[in-house]
Amino acid sequence: MNSKLIIAIDGPSGAGKSTLSRLLSQQLNYINIDTGAMYRAVALAASREGIDSEDCQGLEALCHRIEIHFQRENGHESVWLNGEDVSEAIRTPQMSLLTSKIAACAEVRQAMVRLQRQMGKAGGVVLEGRDIGSVVFPQAEVKFYLEASAQARGQRRYDELVAKGLEVDLQQTIHEVEARDAADSAREHAPLLRPEDAVAIDSTALTIDQVLEKMMVVVSQRLEQR
Ligand code: DC
Repeated sequence: MNSKLIIAIDGPSGAGKSTLSRLLSQQLNYINIDTGAMYRAVALAASREGIDSEDCQGLEALCHRIEIHFQRENGHESVWLNGEDVSEAIRTPQMSLLTSKIAACAEVRQAMVRLQRQMGKAGGVVLEGRDIGSVVFPQAEVKFYLEASAQARGQRRYDELVAKGLEVDLQQTIHEVEARDAADSAREHAPLLRPEDAVAIDSTALTIDQVLEKMMVVVSQRLEQR
Protein backbone atom coordinates (compact mmCIF):
# COMPACT_ATOMS: atom_id res chain seq x y z
CA MET A 1 0.00 0.00 0.00
CA ASN A 2 1.30 3.48 -0.87
CA SER A 3 2.18 5.07 2.45
CA LYS A 4 2.26 8.74 1.63
CA LEU A 5 -1.19 10.08 2.49
CA ILE A 6 -1.72 12.88 4.96
CA ILE A 7 -4.73 11.98 7.11
CA ALA A 8 -6.36 14.66 9.29
CA ILE A 9 -8.66 13.82 12.21
CA ASP A 10 -10.42 16.72 13.91
CA GLY A 11 -13.20 16.90 16.46
CA PRO A 12 -14.07 17.75 20.06
CA SER A 13 -12.45 16.09 23.07
CA GLY A 14 -13.55 12.58 23.93
CA ALA A 15 -14.82 11.80 20.44
CA GLY A 16 -12.20 9.04 20.14
CA LYS A 17 -9.59 10.91 18.06
CA SER A 18 -6.51 9.76 20.00
CA THR A 19 -7.46 6.09 20.04
CA LEU A 20 -8.53 6.02 16.40
CA SER A 21 -5.54 8.02 15.25
CA ARG A 22 -3.23 5.57 16.99
CA LEU A 23 -4.99 2.49 15.60
CA LEU A 24 -5.27 3.90 12.09
CA SER A 25 -1.58 4.85 12.03
CA GLN A 26 -0.60 1.38 13.30
CA GLN A 27 -2.75 -0.32 10.69
CA LEU A 28 -1.24 1.77 7.88
CA ASN A 29 2.25 1.86 9.37
CA TYR A 30 2.08 5.65 9.42
CA ILE A 31 3.48 8.16 11.90
CA ASN A 32 0.92 9.30 14.49
CA ILE A 33 0.91 12.92 15.66
CA ASP A 34 -1.27 13.83 18.63
CA THR A 35 -1.23 17.62 18.26
CA GLY A 36 -3.22 18.10 21.49
CA ALA A 37 -0.29 16.51 23.33
CA MET A 38 2.00 19.17 21.84
CA TYR A 39 -0.21 22.01 23.18
CA ARG A 40 -0.38 20.13 26.49
CA ALA A 41 3.43 19.95 26.65
CA VAL A 42 3.63 23.73 26.12
CA ALA A 43 1.07 24.21 28.93
CA LEU A 44 3.08 21.97 31.28
CA ALA A 45 6.29 23.86 30.50
CA ALA A 46 4.48 27.18 31.07
CA SER A 47 3.09 26.10 34.42
CA ARG A 48 6.52 24.88 35.53
CA GLU A 49 8.13 28.17 34.53
CA GLY A 50 5.33 30.25 36.01
CA ILE A 51 4.34 31.85 32.68
CA ASP A 52 0.78 33.18 32.70
CA SER A 53 -1.66 31.73 30.15
CA GLU A 54 -2.46 35.28 28.94
CA ASP A 55 1.21 36.17 28.38
CA CYS A 56 1.38 35.30 24.68
CA GLN A 57 4.83 36.86 24.20
CA GLY A 58 6.21 34.82 27.08
CA LEU A 59 4.55 31.70 25.69
CA GLU A 60 5.95 32.36 22.23
CA ALA A 61 9.49 32.65 23.61
CA LEU A 62 8.87 29.46 25.59
CA CYS A 63 7.81 27.59 22.43
CA HIS A 64 11.15 28.47 20.85
CA ARG A 65 13.21 27.17 23.76
CA ILE A 66 11.49 23.85 24.38
CA GLU A 67 11.87 20.59 22.48
CA ILE A 68 8.85 18.33 21.95
CA HIS A 69 8.89 14.97 20.26
CA PHE A 70 7.00 11.67 20.13
CA GLN A 71 8.32 8.16 20.57
CA ARG A 72 6.76 4.83 19.66
CA GLU A 73 8.21 1.73 21.25
CA ASN A 74 6.58 -1.71 21.08
CA GLY A 75 3.27 -0.08 20.17
CA HIS A 76 3.47 2.28 23.17
CA GLU A 77 3.45 5.99 22.31
CA SER A 78 4.95 8.68 24.52
CA VAL A 79 5.35 12.47 24.47
CA TRP A 80 8.67 14.03 25.46
CA LEU A 81 9.39 17.55 26.67
CA ASN A 82 13.06 18.58 26.90
CA GLY A 83 14.16 14.96 27.19
CA GLU A 84 11.56 14.00 29.81
CA ASP A 85 8.64 11.60 29.26
CA VAL A 86 5.62 13.78 30.16
CA SER A 87 2.90 11.47 28.79
CA GLU A 88 1.21 11.19 32.19
CA ALA A 89 1.90 14.68 33.54
CA ILE A 90 0.13 16.39 30.62
CA ARG A 91 -3.16 14.51 31.09
CA THR A 92 -4.49 15.86 34.38
CA PRO A 93 -7.78 17.85 34.41
CA GLN A 94 -5.83 20.96 35.48
CA MET A 95 -3.52 20.62 32.50
CA SER A 96 -6.54 20.15 30.16
CA LEU A 97 -7.96 23.46 31.34
CA LEU A 98 -4.65 25.30 31.07
CA THR A 99 -3.98 23.83 27.61
CA SER A 100 -7.28 25.13 26.26
CA LYS A 101 -6.26 28.63 27.45
CA ILE A 102 -2.73 28.64 26.01
CA ALA A 103 -4.00 27.10 22.74
CA ALA A 104 -6.04 30.27 22.17
CA CYS A 105 -2.81 32.28 21.79
CA ALA A 106 -1.99 32.92 18.10
CA GLU A 107 1.79 32.89 18.71
CA VAL A 108 1.64 29.46 20.35
CA ARG A 109 -0.47 28.14 17.48
CA GLN A 110 1.97 29.49 14.89
CA ALA A 111 4.89 27.73 16.57
CA MET A 112 2.99 24.43 16.89
CA VAL A 113 1.59 24.55 13.34
CA ARG A 114 5.11 25.08 11.98
CA LEU A 115 6.33 22.04 13.91
CA GLN A 116 3.34 19.93 12.83
CA ARG A 117 3.89 20.80 9.17
CA GLN A 118 7.55 19.81 9.45
CA MET A 119 6.62 16.51 11.07
CA GLY A 120 3.89 15.69 8.55
CA LYS A 121 4.95 17.16 5.22
CA ALA A 122 6.49 13.94 3.84
CA GLY A 123 3.12 12.16 4.23
CA GLY A 124 2.54 8.71 5.66
CA VAL A 125 1.10 10.45 8.68
CA VAL A 126 -2.08 10.70 10.75
CA LEU A 127 -2.51 13.96 12.64
CA GLU A 128 -5.29 14.53 15.13
CA GLY A 129 -6.42 17.79 16.69
CA ARG A 130 -8.85 20.66 16.16
CA ASP A 131 -7.44 22.53 13.15
CA ILE A 132 -5.60 19.89 11.14
CA GLY A 133 -7.94 19.80 8.12
CA SER A 134 -8.71 23.52 8.30
CA VAL A 135 -5.30 25.12 9.02
CA VAL A 136 -2.34 22.74 9.41
CA PHE A 137 -2.93 20.61 6.29
CA PRO A 138 -5.92 22.00 4.36
CA GLN A 139 -4.60 19.96 1.41
CA ALA A 140 -4.74 16.65 3.34
CA GLU A 141 -5.99 13.85 1.07
CA VAL A 142 -8.20 12.37 3.79
CA LYS A 143 -10.06 14.39 6.43
CA PHE A 144 -12.23 12.99 9.19
CA TYR A 145 -14.39 14.88 11.65
CA LEU A 146 -15.09 12.66 14.64
CA GLU A 147 -17.91 13.60 16.98
CA ALA A 148 -20.04 12.08 19.77
CA SER A 149 -22.67 13.29 22.23
CA ALA A 150 -21.41 15.38 25.19
CA GLN A 151 -22.62 12.65 27.56
CA ALA A 152 -20.60 9.95 25.75
CA ARG A 153 -17.51 12.16 25.51
CA GLY A 154 -17.66 13.11 29.19
CA GLN A 155 -18.14 9.48 30.19
CA ARG A 156 -15.09 8.41 28.17
CA ARG A 157 -12.91 11.12 29.69
CA TYR A 158 -14.20 10.14 33.15
CA ASP A 159 -13.37 6.44 32.52
CA GLU A 160 -9.83 7.38 31.37
CA LEU A 161 -9.19 9.47 34.47
CA VAL A 162 -10.61 6.82 36.85
CA ALA A 163 -8.46 4.15 35.16
CA LYS A 164 -5.45 6.32 36.00
CA GLY A 165 -6.48 6.36 39.65
CA LEU A 166 -7.67 9.98 39.71
CA GLU A 167 -10.69 10.89 41.83
CA VAL A 168 -13.17 12.68 39.60
CA ASP A 169 -16.89 13.34 39.42
CA LEU A 170 -18.80 12.24 36.30
CA GLN A 171 -21.11 15.26 36.03
CA GLN A 172 -18.22 17.63 36.60
CA THR A 173 -16.14 15.85 33.96
CA ILE A 174 -19.00 16.14 31.43
CA HIS A 175 -19.34 19.80 32.31
CA GLU A 176 -15.58 20.40 31.92
CA VAL A 177 -15.49 18.66 28.54
CA GLU A 178 -18.42 20.79 27.31
CA ALA A 179 -16.89 24.02 28.65
CA ARG A 180 -13.52 23.28 27.04
CA ASP A 181 -15.11 22.47 23.67
CA ALA A 182 -17.18 25.65 23.83
CA ALA A 183 -13.98 27.64 24.44
CA ASP A 184 -12.07 25.78 21.68
CA SER A 185 -14.94 26.41 19.23
CA ALA A 186 -15.43 30.08 20.10
CA ARG A 187 -11.80 31.22 20.09
CA GLU A 188 -10.60 33.72 17.53
CA HIS A 189 -7.62 31.79 16.13
CA ALA A 190 -8.14 28.42 14.41
CA PRO A 191 -11.33 27.47 16.26
CA LEU A 192 -12.58 23.89 16.24
CA LEU A 193 -14.70 23.51 13.13
CA ARG A 194 -15.75 20.82 10.74
CA PRO A 195 -13.99 21.25 7.38
CA GLU A 196 -16.54 21.07 4.54
CA ASP A 197 -14.61 18.31 2.80
CA ALA A 198 -14.24 16.15 5.95
CA VAL A 199 -15.97 12.78 6.33
CA ALA A 200 -18.02 13.10 9.54
CA ILE A 201 -18.37 10.08 11.82
CA ASP A 202 -20.52 10.10 14.96
CA SER A 203 -18.96 7.60 17.36
CA THR A 204 -21.66 7.84 20.09
CA ALA A 205 -23.19 4.44 19.37
CA LEU A 206 -20.24 2.79 17.61
CA THR A 207 -17.41 0.63 18.94
CA ILE A 208 -13.83 1.63 18.26
CA ASP A 209 -13.52 -1.22 15.77
CA GLN A 210 -16.61 -0.04 13.89
CA VAL A 211 -15.23 3.49 13.59
CA LEU A 212 -11.84 2.15 12.50
CA GLU A 213 -13.53 0.04 9.83
CA LYS A 214 -15.39 3.08 8.47
CA MET A 215 -12.15 5.04 8.37
CA MET A 216 -10.26 2.25 6.61
CA VAL A 217 -12.94 2.09 3.89
CA VAL A 218 -12.43 5.80 3.18
CA VAL A 219 -8.63 5.52 3.28
CA SER A 220 -8.59 2.46 0.99
CA GLN A 221 -10.82 4.23 -1.53
CA ARG A 222 -8.52 7.23 -1.52
CA LEU A 223 -5.43 5.06 -1.99
CA GLU A 224 -7.09 3.26 -4.92
CA GLN A 225 -7.84 6.60 -6.59
CA ARG A 226 -4.18 7.62 -6.60
O1 DC B 1 -7.03 16.73 22.20
P1 DC B 1 -6.64 17.22 23.59
O2 DC B 1 -7.75 17.14 24.60
O3 DC B 1 -5.38 16.59 24.08
O4 DC B 1 -6.35 18.78 23.38
C1 DC B 1 -5.96 19.60 24.44
C2 DC B 1 -6.35 21.04 24.14
O5 DC B 1 -5.54 21.55 23.08
C3 DC B 1 -7.81 21.26 23.74
O6 DC B 1 -8.42 22.16 24.64
C4 DC B 1 -7.76 21.89 22.38
C5 DC B 1 -6.33 22.23 22.14
N1 DC B 1 -5.91 21.83 20.79
C6 DC B 1 -5.92 22.80 19.81
O7 DC B 1 -6.31 23.93 20.07
N2 DC B 1 -5.50 22.49 18.56
C7 DC B 1 -5.10 21.26 18.25
N3 DC B 1 -4.69 20.98 17.01
C8 DC B 1 -5.11 20.24 19.24
C9 DC B 1 -5.54 20.56 20.52
